[in-house]
Amino acid sequence: MTENSEKIDRLNDLTTFISTKTGVKGLVDAEITEVPSMFHVPSSILSNNRPSDISGLNLTVPIIDLGDRNTSSRNLVVSKIKDAAENWGFFQVINHGVPLTVLEEIKESVRRFHEQDPEVKNQYLPTDNNKKFVYNNDFDLYHSSPMNWRDSFTCYIAPDPPNPEEIPVACRSAVIEYTKHVMEFGAVLFQLLSEALGLDSETLKRIDCLKGLFMLCHYYPPCPQPDLTLGISKHTDNSFLTLLLQDQIGGLQVLHEDYWVDVPPIPGALVVNIGDFMQLITNDKFLSVEHRVRPNKDRPRISVACFFSSSLSPNSTVYGPIKDLLSDENPAKYKDITIPEYTAGFLASIFDEKSYLTNYMI
Ligand code: OGA
Ligand code: NI
Repeated sequence: MTENSEKIDRLNDLTTFISTKTGVKGLVDAEITEVPSMFHVPSSILSNNRPSDISGLNLTVPIIDLGDRNTSSRNLVVSKIKDAAENWGFFQVINHGVPLTVLEEIKESVRRFHEQDPEVKNQYLPTDNNKKFVYNNDFDLYHSSPMNWRDSFTCYIAPDPPNPEEIPVACRSAVIEYTKHVMEFGAVLFQLLSEALGLDSETLKRIDCLKGLFMLCHYYPPCPQPDLTLGISKHTDNSFLTLLLQDQIGGLQVLHEDYWVDVPPIPGALVVNIGDFMQLITNDKFLSVEHRVRPNKDRPRISVACFFSSSLSPNSTVYGPIKDLLSDENPAKYKDITIPEYTAGFLASIFDEKSYLTNYMI
């Protein structure tokens, strides 16, 4: 094929994809057997980089039992969190206190939303009137990188919660219930993280890390050629902290010591990861680590990511490295930011090779 005819093919694929407005799920429902070229990722990027000799490496994402947090073992819990936040930027938590039924219901309701007819979902496509709930089936189209094998919706929860009627019936009560628990559990996590930094337990709450929350709910349809594409390209999160609930399918990977390490599904667990704002305010003590999702051939995968961030909503609070963490030996590594300004730049360059945080290094 000539280069030109390849370009024309890609353009045709894109045009069809945009005009059908049925998302990636629509391609799968139409029983395509080959992944269109606009989703193709070079094989060098997809490789897991697994070292041949892993004997000296610990390649298991930390699992932390929070059942002990209110006992004399709290210090141990805090030190495990400190270790995980410093070395992995990722950990899984069990006995977190969010009821299993609530976790099941939010996953089920995300599936319910995505498995509705396109006409129903498309009422929630982005428009310019600041909807709180947006279904996005061509989110990645406007970036230079390949498209991702997923359909997603976002819902802004805090500081300005949506009216219940703004949330589709398919997931209304589950979104309200789950995010109530996420805000409560988020408060616990920010206390533990404050202590892990050696600061007063209310520090992170006091600087409003808990003020904003939005959720991003993914549906990764089964993929006929999972070795050609990604569910989500490599990225860091645009948040203080992200709380992720994944179903039992698997596919999430985190970059650790230059290797892609699986984050295995654990029933009832939640995945916690440090976001860019946390790396900035902790002056690189806690790390915002790159991660991605690989697709699978057999079954759809559901995940629910909750980001502690006020995102693009007006917020004039200025964030820089926390003064109490700085010293002559540890001077500030980052300039000050505001969340909306950072978010706008982040979204424009998401999936670029370089982390957006590097733009703010001193
Ligand atoms: C995200 C993300 C991972 C997943 O939404 O930022 O990394 O497993 N999601 O869906
Ligand atoms: Ni992420």
